[in-house]
Amino acid sequence: MKARFAAAGFAAMALLASNAAFALDELHKKYACTACHADERKLVGPAYMDVAKAYTNAKDPKYKGDRAKAVAYLSEKVRKGGSGVWGPVPMPPNATPTDAEIKKMVESILDMAKKAPAKK
Ligand code: HEC
Repeated sequence: MKARFAAAGFAAMALLASNAAFALDELHKKYACTACHADERKLVGPAYMDVAKAYTNAKDPKYKGDRAKAVAYLSEKVRKGGSGVWGPVPMPPNATPTDAEIKKMVESILDMAKKAPAKK
């Protein structure tokens, strides 16, 4: 009996932990970003968590953690595609989402940095 409660508690905790870092909302699925991106591991493109950490870091040489500038840059990058920041593989342009949708997706990626469990 006791063991069963413990197992249920553990499952609930695992569920909470996985919800804590969650950028893969409906928009990311709708526009097939998830074919190339996952929250916490590299697929074809970089992990969203790594993007979030890079662009919210005050020591980032380009944006210095300036969220508005990072959102503007990343939104344009998602729209037009491109390569060379994370490696030689290009991201194709994304023509279908509206500007507002792209902004929302980019913001949800950057927000992952706040929710990331402290590892260091
Ligand atoms: C066919 C695969 C593919 C798809 C689909 C894709 N991406 Fe990417 N994405 C990449 C690759 C590859 C990179 C790395 C580009 C680079 O190194 O400059 C990347 C980079 C990014 C970056 C970081 C850009 C930077 O300059 O640091 C963001 C943010 C991003 N993608 C968001 C999205 C969103 C949102 C979508 C859906 C609308 C999407 N991606 C769809 C492959 C993809």
